[in-house]
Amino acid sequence: MSENVYPVPANVASHALIDNDTYLSMYKQSIEDPNAFWAEHGKRIDWMKPFTKVKNSSYDYHNVSIKWFEDGELNVSANCIDRHLESRGDQTAIIWEGDDPSDSENITYKQLHERVCKLANAYKELGVAKGDRVILYMPMIPEAAYAMLACARIGAIHSIVFGGFSPDALADRINGSKAKLVVTADQGLRGGRKVALKTNVNAAFEKVDHDAKILVVKRTGGDVPMTDGRDVWYDDIVGPASADCAPEPMNAEDPLFILYTSGSTGMPKGVVHSTGGYLVYASMTHQYVFDYHDGDVYWCTADVGWVTGHSYIVYGPLANGATTVMFEGVPTYPTPSRFWDVCEKHKVNIFYTAPTAIRSLMGAGKEHVEKADLSSLRILGSVGEPINPEAWKWYYEVVGKKNCPIVDTWWQTETGGIMITPLPGATALKPGSATRPFFGVQPVMLDNEGNEISETECEGILCIADSWPGQMRTVYGDHDRFVSTYFETFKGYYFAGDGARRDADGDYWITGRVDDVINVSGHRMGTAEVESALVAHPKVSEAAVVGYPHDIKGQGIYVYVTLMEGEEETEELRKELRNWVRHEIGPIASPDLIQFAPGLPKTRSGKIMRRILRKIAEDDFAALGDTSTLADPTVVEDLIDNRQNRD
Ligand code: PRX
Repeated sequence: MSENVYPVPANVASHALIDNDTYLSMYKQSIEDPNAFWAEHGKRIDWMKPFTKVKNSSYDYHNVSIKWFEDGELNVSANCIDRHLESRGDQTAIIWEGDDPSDSENITYKQLHERVCKLANAYKELGVAKGDRVILYMPMIPEAAYAMLACARIGAIHSIVFGGFSPDALADRINGSKAKLVVTADQGLRGGRKVALKTNVNAAFEKVDHDAKILVVKRTGGDVPMTDGRDVWYDDIVGPASADCAPEPMNAEDPLFILYTSGSTGMPKGVVHSTGGYLVYASMTHQYVFDYHDGDVYWCTADVGWVTGHSYIVYGPLANGATTVMFEGVPTYPTPSRFWDVCEKHKVNIFYTAPTAIRSLMGAGKEHVEKADLSSLRILGSVGEPINPEAWKWYYEVVGKKNCPIVDTWWQTETGGIMITPLPGATALKPGSATRPFFGVQPVMLDNEGNEISETECEGILCIADSWPGQMRTVYGDHDRFVSTYFETFKGYYFAGDGARRDADGDYWITGRVDDVINVSGHRMGTAEVESALVAHPKVSEAAVVGYPHDIKGQGIYVYVTLMEGEEETEELRKELRNWVRHEIGPIASPDLIQFAPGLPKTRSGKIMRRILRKIAEDDFAALGDTSTLADPTVVEDLIDNRQNRD
C-alpha cells in the first residue's frame, strides 16, 4: 500500500509550523531527553507557580504512578481565557452555529471571560467548591463550554455525560462521582428534533442516592417540570451573579475532569485527567497537528460529551487563543450540505470530523459539497476509527480539492490528546494510515506473548512504552482497575487495546480493537455493557454481542440472544429488545441486528467463543477456524442457518 503516498502539498509546506527535519529533530529530543523537551514546552502555558520537576512516571506494574510538572500551579480557565484578554479580548473565541442555520453567535474572549466568571460565582452560590464533582448533561450550546471552564475556574471537577445517554446511565454517573450539581438544559435541539434533557435528568434523579442540585439552561423554552429547592434556572442565578471571580490556583496533578468510557469488561470507567500535563498536551497537539496559525477558524464537529470535544473544541483551541466553532446540529440537517455550508459561512480553515460522517455524506453525493465555496479550507482531520481509503480519497479530492492534507489522528479518551498522526507540513500521507507518533510518544508493537517486535514491518498489538503529559492518571475511585486494565496484560507498557500494522517506512496503520470494545459511528462501546442490559430483560436468558462491518457506522451491533424457556421468537420481541437497550443505555447502543439463538457456542468450560460469533456476524462462516473445543458443535450450524447479515 506504500505506493499510494501523497506528499505534503506545496501551499501547506511553505507556511507550516513544522517541516520534516524539524519533526525528526524534535521527536528525537522528546524521546531521548523528555525532561528537557517538556520543560521547554511546558512553558507554552501560564503557570501561577512555575514547576521545577517535569516527568515522574512509573509503568512498573506494582507501582503505576504518573505525574508531570508535579510542583507547578496553574488554572486552566485562566489559560484558556484571561491570558488572551490583553492581546485578543475582542477576537472571537467561540463561533456558535445553532441547529437552525439562521441561529449563530460569535462570543469574544472578553464575553467568554464575563460569562464564565458569572457562572463560576453561581456555582459557588450553589455550594460547589474546589474538588467537588459537577455533571454536565448538555446540548452543544455555548453554555456547555462555559460550564466546563467555570468548573476549571473554581477547581471543581466536571464529568460530561453525552446527551444521548439514558436516565439510567446518567444516574450511574451522578452516583459514581457523588456529584453535587448537574448542569443541563430544558431540551436540546438536533436536526430539528427536541431532546428531552431535563426530563431525563428528572428520571435519573429517582435513582440518585445523595443530595444534588440541578442548574437548567433555557434552550427551547419547552415546558419542563422543575422541583423547588433542587432545580434552578440558569438565568435566574447567573444573571445577577458578579463577573468578578479570581481563578483558583490548582496543582498540576489536580484532576481537571472525569470522563466515563467503555472498556472490555464491566461498567464504564471514569477516566481522570490532570490539570497541567493535560493542558500542555492538548494545546501543543492542537497547534502542531492542525498547524494552527493565529487568525485561523477551526472547527471540530465532535460533541463535548466525548474526549474529542474536551481536547479539541474547548481546552486545546482556547488555550491557544484560537477561534473555535461549536456546532449544535447534525451533518444532514436541513440538508446534506450543512457541514459545507457552515464551512463557507464561517470561512473555516481547519475542519476535523469522523469517518462515519464522511461516509454518510459521501453517500449523499458530491453535488452537496460542490455547491459550497470551500476555498478557505487548508487542513482536514479525521478521528475516532480507521478511515477506509475510499472515504479518505473522497474527503481529500471532493472536500479538500487535493490541496488539504488529511491528518488521520489516532488517540483515545485515555490518552487525553492525539498520539499518532501526520503533521501537515512534515508528513507524506497514506490513505488509512495514522503515520507517525507525536512528540514524546513511543509506540511499540508487541506479539501476543508481549515481546517487542523489532522488525519495522510487522503486525501486532499497539502499546506505548513510556508516559506522555496528557496520559490519564487513574480510574476515578479505583486505581487498581487503572493498573489492571492498562498495565497488567503487557507489563511495562501502556496497553491501548488496539491492533496495528507497521509498514516498511515505519508508518502505523491502526487495525481496530483487539478487545471486546466496538466502535459504532466513532462511539466506543463495551460489548459487555450491551450484554448486561439485555440479560436484565425478563425474557432473555443469555446474550452475546459482537461488532460487524457496517458501511456507514464502521461497525454495527450484532446481538445473539437466548430466550427464557417458553418465550416466542417474534419480530415484536426484537423491537422490544431494541427499545430496551435504548432505554437502558441510550440510542447509541441500539442493536442493528438481533439473532435469536437457542444455543451459543461455548467451550466445555462454558466460555462463549466470540471468535465464532464474530465470524458468523461478518457473514464469513467459511473461515470459522478451530471449532474442536466446542461443547456442542451443532449449535454453530443453527447459528449459520439463521444469521441476520446475509448478502
Ligand atoms: O480503536 C481506536 C479508535 O477509537 C478508540 C478510542 O475511542 P475513544 O476513547 O472513544 O476516543 C475516540 C476519539 C479519540 C481507539 O482505541 N480510534 C480513534 N481514532 C482512530 C481510531 N482508530 C483508527 N484510526 C484513528 N484515527
